[in-house]
Amino acid sequence: MNQSPRFSSFTTPHKGIRNFLSQLSMHAGSCDYSDPQDIAALKERLEEAMELLEEHAQVENDIILSALEERAPGSGAHDQEDHRRLHQMQDILLAKMHDIANPATRPGETARLGAELYQGISLLFAEHLEHMAEEENVTQKLLWEHFSDHELMQLQGRIIGSMKPELLLKWWSYILPAQSPMERLKLMANVQASAPAAFFEQIMAVARKNLPEQAFNKLAASLAPEGAEA
Ligand SMILES: [Fe+2]
Repeated sequence: MNQSPRFSSFTTPHKGIRNFLSQLSMHAGSCDYSDPQDIAALKERLEEAMELLEEHAQVENDIILSALEERAPGSGAHDQEDHRRLHQMQDILLAKMHDIANPATRPGETARLGAELYQGISLLFAEHLEHMAEEENVTQKLLWEHFSDHELMQLQGRIIGSMKPELLLKWWSYILPAQSPMERLKLMANVQASAPAAFFEQIMAVARKNLPEQAFNKLAASLAPEGAEA
């Protein structure tokens, strides 16, 4: 949770990443590797998680770290190297998942590969936790040193503007349940004030689907009524 009064570039998406990686780890550990349906569901979950991780690293490289490099040359190198290493780990997991889901793979072999996949996901999760903590504690301080909050929010706007709506909705499905009620309300109040009403409604539908009923009701009751001044 960001305890600084300054704008944080990382805490919101990183809570979403911690959410979907913990779900992925749980599923890989509890999967029935003799059941094609369970394997297909795990494959879908893994591919979505890898897509979100790749996209996240890409926008960090292209928008945040490249802006930091312009003002403090060399400052983004450590995170960019992390992104390269994580990308390689993710590719290996995707290939392993592909082999598990291949109908030609024998049932005994899928169980062995499944155990390897579970270990690999654990190691990837551990690497991401360390990498995110570094970005939140070290990279964020560099960003605060070299950018105003207004500039950091402009970078954030460029990131959001670079994403297709379907991808944004996937992010919201993991980000919203991972926020504290206050953080969630602040995020959604900002969306309500800045996004087209139809898109805000789509995000509220994602919130309704992914939040516990009580948490959703609390959020909906705290937001300004549609059409009212924020
Ligand atoms: Fe990163």
